[in-house]
Amino acid sequence: MSDQNLSITLTVNGLERELGVNRVDCLLDVLRSAGYKSVKRGCDTGDCGMCVVLMNGQPVRSCMLRAVEIDGAAVTTVEGLVAPDGTLHPIQRAFVETGAIQCGFCTPAQMLLAKALIDSNPNPTEADIRQVMNSAHCRCTGYVRLVEAVQRAAAMMRGEEVPPVSHIALTLPGPGDPLELPEPYYRQGQYATSGPLPPLVYTPPEMAQTEFVGAPQVKVDAVKLAKGYPVFTDDVLPENTLIGALLTSPHAHARIKSIDTGKAEALPGVHAVLTYKNVERVKYATGGQSWPQPEPYDQVVFDDKVRHVGDRVAAVAADDARIARRALRLIKVEYEILPPVVDMVEAMQPGAPVIHDEPDTEGIYDAQRNIVYHIEAETGNIESAFAEADHVFEGEYLTPKQQHVNLEPHVCVTYWDEDDRMVIRSSTQVPFHVRRIVAPLIGLPIKRIRVIKPRIGGGFGNKQEILLEDICALLTIRTGRPVRMEYTRTQEFNASRSRHPNIIRYKVGVKDNIVTAMDLYLLGDTGAYGTHGLTVQMVGGFKGLTLYNPPNARFISDVMYTNTPPSGAFRGYGSMQCQYGVEVIMEEIADQLGLDVVEFKRNNWIKIGEPMYLSKSLGEGREGYEQNLATSGMADCLRIGLEATDYYAKREQFKNQNGRIRRGIGFAVMMHGSAIAGLDMAAATLKMNDDGSFNLLIGATDIGTGSDTILAQIASEVLGIPVEDLIVYSSDTDFTPFDKGAYASSTTYLSGMAVRKAALKIKDMLLAHAAFMLEIDDPNSLTLADRRVTAPDGRSVTLEDIGLSSFHVENQHQIMATDSHVSYVSPPPTAAQFVEVAVDMETGQINTERLLMVVDCGRVINPITAAGQVEGGISQALGFALTEEMLFDAEGQPINPRIGPYYIPRASDMPPTDVIFVQTDEPSGPYGAKSVAEISIDGVGPAMVSAVHNATGVWMRQLPLTPERVWRSLNGK
Ligand code: FES
Repeated sequence: MSDQNLSITLTVNGLERELGVNRVDCLLDVLRSAGYKSVKRGCDTGDCGMCVVLMNGQPVRSCMLRAVEIDGAAVTTVEGLVAPDGTLHPIQRAFVETGAIQCGFCTPAQMLLAKALIDSNPNPTEADIRQVMNSAHCRCTGYVRLVEAVQRAAAMMRGEEVPPVSHIALTLPGPGDPLELPEPYYRQGQYATSGPLPPLVYTPPEMAQTEFVGAPQVKVDAVKLAKGYPVFTDDVLPENTLIGALLTSPHAHARIKSIDTGKAEALPGVHAVLTYKNVERVKYATGGQSWPQPEPYDQVVFDDKVRHVGDRVAAVAADDARIARRALRLIKVEYEILPPVVDMVEAMQPGAPVIHDEPDTEGIYDAQRNIVYHIEAETGNIESAFAEADHVFEGEYLTPKQQHVNLEPHVCVTYWDEDDRMVIRSSTQVPFHVRRIVAPLIGLPIKRIRVIKPRIGGGFGNKQEILLEDICALLTIRTGRPVRMEYTRTQEFNASRSRHPNIIRYKVGVKDNIVTAMDLYLLGDTGAYGTHGLTVQMVGGFKGLTLYNPPNARFISDVMYTNTPPSGAFRGYGSMQCQYGVEVIMEEIADQLGLDVVEFKRNNWIKIGEPMYLSKSLGEGREGYEQNLATSGMADCLRIGLEATDYYAKREQFKNQNGRIRRGIGFAVMMHGSAIAGLDMAAATLKMNDDGSFNLLIGATDIGTGSDTILAQIASEVLGIPVEDLIVYSSDTDFTPFDKGAYASSTTYLSGMAVRKAALKIKDMLLAHAAFMLEIDDPNSLTLADRRVTAPDGRSVTLEDIGLSSFHVENQHQIMATDSHVSYVSPPPTAAQFVEVAVDMETGQINTERLLMVVDCGRVINPITAAGQVEGGISQALGFALTEEMLFDAEGQPINPRIGPYYIPRASDMPPTDVIFVQTDEPSGPYGAKSVAEISIDGVGPAMVSAVHNATGVWMRQLPLTPERVWRSLNGK
């Protein structure tokens, strides 16, 4: 049988299609080539489940099936669920309504799994649903709203009425008043069968009422994602697009002695080959941060030295993926293999291999000892405080190298437009930083580059890096053709970014049961390149010493190069590592002093009005600003969590258990930040249309978080119009105003304020034009609500009237405004995380029985999307606490660079996961909002350690708590 030009017939979504295939083509590729772009690629090993379709009604992984072997089959994709008139299938409706769609990359697979399940079992249990969902991962949702969506869809398909999806709103009682807590939030009885709960929102009675802000608005992009429209980077390719592919290093540390690309270049269908020999050596750093990025600029596009397995060696552009892969195999590289160092402690020892010995990198703290950064900051007098303390405690805590596992890999498409400008369509969190950082690498001025961010299939910090855009653009420059490049899943593990592993050493002085001194030494592993190494540790030091904010504190950090894939930005950003350390040592101290840990923490945590002592010396990469804590809901978060979990009774009950399975409960308190004070800027534009609708143009980057929606809600609140009257567009460097991008928990707080300011300008313009139309002298006497401006005498004009008048009739002008926002404070959201576990004393296996987070994120702009952020963060935190760790052998070879063996939580790994909000009114935030995305990941690790200690009496100091580690600790090994 020839490899080429075979033909098969498939019935796809009820239509018979004759499709040309190659003998080795998988069904996934054939379907995507035929236009069924809802079928996604997240790996090629059958691990991720993004490519699930229904074949003859049964779910199959289309990447694992050869198309020629299923000739004649009937295939269903999500496009086939939509009725011809565009009406959504009940499953699609349920996913939209419940908030089950965040980034939407897993959504098609999850909906098809739901369909197969409900078709065979119209009334599935929660366990049935979770079991089926195990076939496709979701990294965004924690599966809470996914389970709810399938339950709702099943009810709809059984013909039952379903209530509107909403949250539960309650008034927050005063400190001494009894707490009203709905019964299900106590989670009594059988945890596993009690189902997802709606988010619960407590509001202080004095907080102002809002209309659109605070409502459970459906995400503005949910329907197109539910329909499987081609909205992701890889879904739309220009004609004649070449396929780029990357050759990466098989060695952790080596010098390239020679590289021969002759055979690859001669291969028919190959159009360009790039190596260090034909690409200019321009120093840069890949971290997508504001200008100027912290030194050192320790990377070049291609180097003659490789510093980790997965480091760049060469790239090709070819007619198709098969030719590109073949060309990579034809590149002959001769390496001088150098000894690697993969351990951050060994890396600083005398005689360790020097990773950055190149002469042209400036700004490494001590290159000979592989120390890229050394940070020191201090407040008060730490030594005298230790000398005067009643007790001094010390503890060392270790955290793992965690991978983001964003299910959409890094992918970008580059092409020249008709004005000879370079267009970069990229799955990025930072389109404006991409434009600025790529410009010198590809030799074009910023004005000749346009970066477009389509829908993004998850980022979590990993896409705050410039990883493929430079190479892809260079290949377009070399060939004159559009080029598409995408990381393989192995490259996601080996060549993208990950969380910094840390060794965290705390020394804590306590006098009269008050923490008077805290010393934190933080050793961080940035891997082969510096990128976010400085800022992650600075944030870690700041948050790790500010949660309890002793007046005497010292922070020292060394950030190490090792021959492992670079660490970078990852949700939590140093803060989660150090708050894990400080929360566990606070537990240990209370345990040793015989104190109630709740009281001990409550007496010591930072209080409203206190200065954050290190806010100035530990800015993010530069000096920061003096800040005080303006709002905190921590006391209420803890109080509610204690009540909802019956913490004290269980804590007592679980002490001194016997038997194989022992249960435990623990908690942690956390604080995070909202944007980077005085550094990052966001802007927004509102532009009116003839019919009274508005375009909301935002540089802020919705990567699945729902930021497009909540920013629209903020504009709605100011303008008195429903969200459906706003056409939201993010982000395109040609058409949307600057925004630093999606990171640092900044979008709601910073971009939200920019939207509010722009909307207030628009409001003034609307009132002015309405006053002109109504012949009223004082525009401020008018009111704007319900799409209309009304005068005190009752006369009114609609926004459509104003649009038509201002465009076409009188005092003609464009009603349009742009505003921007910088904040010199970064108000911390606060929270309490509760964890309940059962530990198998014979195997060390931990079964998580319940996760509850009570969160103060200021004003909750959208309870459903905010809860989704928390639920997703909690599930990533559970992976961090229990299973996720990138492992390397002594030669720096990755041991588990696949989704399967790396192991992120699946649907059935997630216990009941509940979210309760306690609103506070942050004066510097839009309508009182702070951030929510990152604090959600900070607490599970320490709360888990606390719970395991409650169950077993053993303190675990190294994450993740794998069964082997727990077993060893239980057995004193
Ligand atoms: Fe599931 Fe993003 S919504 S991976």
